[in-house]
Amino acid sequence: MSTTTVLITGAGRGIGESIAAIYLQRPSYTVIAAVRDVTSPSSVELSSLPKAADSKLLLIKIDSASDTDAQDAAHTLKQEQEIEHIDTLIANAGICVYNEPAHTVDLKTFREQLEVNVLGAVKLFKAFYELLRSSQKQPKFIAISSLIGSTGMVRFTGKHNLASYGTSKAALNHFVRRTYYENDWLVATAIHPGTVSTDSGNVAVEVYGEAARGEYTPHQSAERVVRLIDGVTRESVGEHDGGLLGPDGGKIPF
Ligand SMILES: NC(=O)c1ccc[n+]([C@@H]2O[C@H](COP(=O)([O-])OP(=O)(O)OC[C@H]3O[C@@H](n4cnc5c(N)ncnc54)[C@H](OP(=O)(O)O)[C@@H]3O)[C@@H](O)[C@H]2O)c1
Repeated sequence: MSTTTVLITGAGRGIGESIAAIYLQRPSYTVIAAVRDVTSPSSVELSSLPKAADSKLLLIKIDSASDTDAQDAAHTLKQEQEIEHIDTLIANAGICVYNEPAHTVDLKTFREQLEVNVLGAVKLFKAFYELLRSSQKQPKFIAISSLIGSTGMVRFTGKHNLASYGTSKAALNHFVRRTYYENDWLVATAIHPGTVSTDSGNVAVEVYGEAARGEYTPHQSAERVVRLIDGVTRESVGEHDGGLLGPDGGKIPF
């Protein structure tokens, strides 16, 4: 069986860690967990995740705020780990600043979210483009986005005061759609993972109260995300115009 290679950013905790754990339990998978700090306890603990036969975990540093980390990681993986292709590239790393209505939005935190949530995915895509192209399976570029980035849904989500986060995820969705239409060999889509009880999901509860409590555990969300990634094809993305998928595959308006 040929090896399937998956790279996930922000894999040290939350949804990213659960996605990595699910792939590792499949035989013949190479799971590349990209983290900000390879020596942090959460990163080190990744090595004890259960692995199926012929599957392995590689840990690599990618800080989404860095202009060079993604390129350096691609170079290191090729030169030192003999990685010759990436089959699925998942831009999961993200930050969310809550309670920022448009009229008081802080420019510093706005820029940070644009840097991590948008440019982080841009730098990742650029750095791993040739490795994705080298995939003999159907290569996939997946962005973990958010319903909050849906412009069509702002009439429902607008009261949450997430102007900067929402704008960053809207830009991410746009970028992913462009990658789909520019590359006829690539499956590219954005996925909303649901509301999830991760560290950042739990901050939402502190800010907005119980109504904001995550619908899913990280594992439940990751199971849905991985199922979607398994099933998504160039044709299915085309049917919803390179759009944004909800956790159970429903199409969320851009
Ligand atoms: N939780 C939800 O309800 C929800 C809903 C919709 C969308 N999402 C999206 O799902 C994705 C994962 O979120 P989560 O809920 O799992 O959040 P989380 O538990 O807070 O984890 C965030 C992850 O992103 C990483 N990260 C943050 N800044 C980074 C940077 N500069 N460079 C590299 N990695 C960075 C973190 O790494 P460190 O450990 O180094 O900080 C961590 O692994 C995000 O894109 C988020 O916007 C989440």
